[in-house]
Amino acid sequence: MPQLITPDLHIKPEHKSKPGQHPIIPTNETVELSESEIKQIDDALHHVPFPSGASIDALKIIQQHRGWVSDACLKALSAHMKVSTADLDGVATFYNLIFRQPVGKVVLHPCDGISCDLMGGKKVRKCLSKKLGIGDGQTTKDNQFTLIPLPCLGACDKAPVMIASEKLFELMDENSVPDILEELGAKK
Ligand code: FES
Repeated sequence: MPQLITPDLHIKPEHKSKPGQHPIIPTNETVELSESEIKQIDDALHHVPFPSGASIDALKIIQQHRGWVSDACLKALSAHMKVSTADLDGVATFYNLIFRQPVGKVVLHPCDGISCDLMGGKKVRKCLSKKLGIGDGQTTKDNQFTLIPLPCLGACDKAPVMIASEKLFELMDENSVPDILEELGAKK
């Protein structure tokens, strides 16, 4: 299984979800961490010499519970960990798999690395985009899928590939896309 955490692609603003598509929490809203979140975060903190060392684990815990990491959650996490929101935001921005905006139930990560592109990855990504009616960084209206291409997923010998729901889809082509989307919960 390839390493899932990779440097951020800095998805362009025009590729982000359309305004009004998601109920984005205003930055001045506050949230409280749940008991379960606090317990898991404290456990992560016990394993590192400095609180900032647990930043990525803490962000992942928030995301596991809430699906994404809002500004309000970042503030709550900052207060609990005694790590600045700027530092936490920097970590969250660096890692592609920490979502700072709402995402669908299934996040599709087709590879846009050179090996996959040479083996037809561009066509696969175009097909995904067309079938779902969304561009990179966007979420379908039914909130089922978000499309976020990632660079080389470390499976070039199986190109083109895509990761979704913790599964690696290999040797994809345009014909395999409908079945894969159906397996991942697309409505017929
Ligand atoms: S370029 Fe796609 S897995 Fe390496």
